[in-house]
Parts: sequence; C-alpha cells; structure tokens
Amino acid sequence: MTIKDRRSIRHYSADVVSEELLNSIIDEAQRASNTGNMQTYSVIITRDEAQKKLLAPAHFNQPMVTSAPIVLTICADFHRFSRWCEERCAIPGFDNIQSFVGASIDAMLLAQNIATIAEREGLGICFLGTTTYNALQIIETLHLPRLVMPLTTITMGYPASMPEQPDRIPVSGIIHNETYREYTSAEINALYEQKEARDDSKKFIEENNKETLAQVFTDVRYPKSASDFFSVEFIKALRRQGFIAEEQ
Ligand SMILES: Cc1cc2nc3c(=O)[nH]c(=O)nc-3n(C[C@H](O)[C@H](O)[C@H](O)COP(=O)(O)O)c2cc1C
Repeated sequence: MTIKDRRSIRHYSADVVSEELLNSIIDEAQRASNTGNMQTYSVIITRDEAQKKLLAPAHFNQPMVTSAPIVLTICADFHRFSRWCEERCAIPGFDNIQSFVGASIDAMLLAQNIATIAEREGLGICFLGTTTYNALQIIETLHLPRLVMPLTTITMGYPASMPEQPDRIPVSGIIHNETYREYTSAEINALYEQKEARDDSKKFIEENNKETLAQVFTDVRYPKSASDFFSVEFIKALRRQGFIAEEQ
C-alpha cells in the first residue's frame, strides 16, 4: 500500500504476525534519522493477552488494545544511553526537558517508519494518543525505568476490512512560502468546507447535539478541561521519570 492509499485500521483478522516480520519492520525502521545517532528510544512489544488486558484501561479500553495481535508502546528512552555513559566513565546530563524533546522527536520518527513499513508489508496500524493521557499507568504496567517515557502506541495486525479513507484539507492549507501568512476567513472557509460537507461530519454534529463540526472537537472530543487535566498528569509523569527535576 502506498502512503496515498493508507488509512488507520481498527479491526484486525486473527492472522498471526510473525516475530520475524515484526523484527524486520523494526530493524528497517531504526534506519530513521536520529539525534547524534544516540537512538534514544525503545519499543515495548505486547503480544500476551493478559498483558494487553492490563494495558487496556490506560487506553480507556479502546478495543484495539485487546483485539490487535500486536501492541507497540514507543518510548523516549535516555535510560539505555545513560547506562552506557555511566559504564564508560562519562557523566550523562540527560535528565531535562531538552533531552526529553530530542528523544521524543527521534521516537516519533521511528514510530512513523514502523507504521509506514508495516503498511507496505500489508499490515494495518492505528496510533493511540491515549499513551500520553495515562502515561503514569503505562509506566507502571510496563515497568519503565527512570528516563523512559511512553509517547505513543501502535496497534498492528492484518486488516479484517478496509474502512473508507478519511479526508485531508487541501495541501495549500498547510504550506507557507518563506514566512507564515495569516489565513483570511475566506481561506479558512475554503479549507474546511469539504470536511464540513461530508455526511459523516453532519452525522457527527447531529449525534453530539452541536451546531458546528468545530464544536464537536472543542466541546466533546478534546475539551480544554480534559487537556488541562492530562497536561498536569503528563508533567507528573515527566517528573517521576526524571526528565524534570524534583524541585521544578
Ligand atoms: C498521535 C496520534 C494519536 C491517535 N490516537 C488515536 C486513538 O487514540 N484512537 C484512535 O482510534 N485513533 C487514533 N489515531 C488515529 C487518527 O484518528 C487517524 O490517524 C486520523 O483520524 C486520520 O485517519 P487515517 O489515519 O485513517 O488517515 C491517532 C493518530 C495519531 C497520529
């Protein structure tokens, strides 16, 4: 499948994804560019049913966590590299936000490579954003040590069916030449009109008793109160994992 044809897959067949295929996907994916070639990431593979059940509540019991053959938790990881430094008479200084952000960028580049290669191999994937909502629970369940933060989760398996492909805004909407140019109201209208005209969008508005599609996002799917709450939780997790000093 090419990137143009791809879509997230949330229903998987019972076909087994071999260990050999999964290892080869991750091996190829780790060719991604990464900061200083330090490879500050780790992938936790969950195949065990009992372990998936333990992880599921952290993902608000999204069904893919238990129905997918494979669940990958992608982590920013300065633990392994710091261990190497310590064993080689080098004093690591990676217990800070700058290091966390760098490791996060590298981990997400790895994650996207894993997704793209898996799709090329005929597998289906879905990212789960709930990983950063309930990072503390995931840290406990996966026994993540200091300087390891879970960032995203990818569920993976052979697709049971092909859902319709979701829309994207026109590419002109995301491009700015030379400097950022503010959008006029007319441009905003033009960029989002196709999305708003879709039948599934209209259904979404009706089901949620809202007046506009944007309100479904701000009031139902991503309300400020929830984002604020989970931001505080995430900072607690960063502190616990040593990326923010105790006194900060
Ligand atoms: C960081 C991230 C978090 C996501 N979290 C979820 C999620 O928790 N549950 C879900 O069903 N899909 C999740 N998705 C998938 C998106 O909903 C999906 O990519 C988007 O709607 C576009 O659909 P497409 O991938 O089929 O083009 C996530 C995607 C990303 C990149």
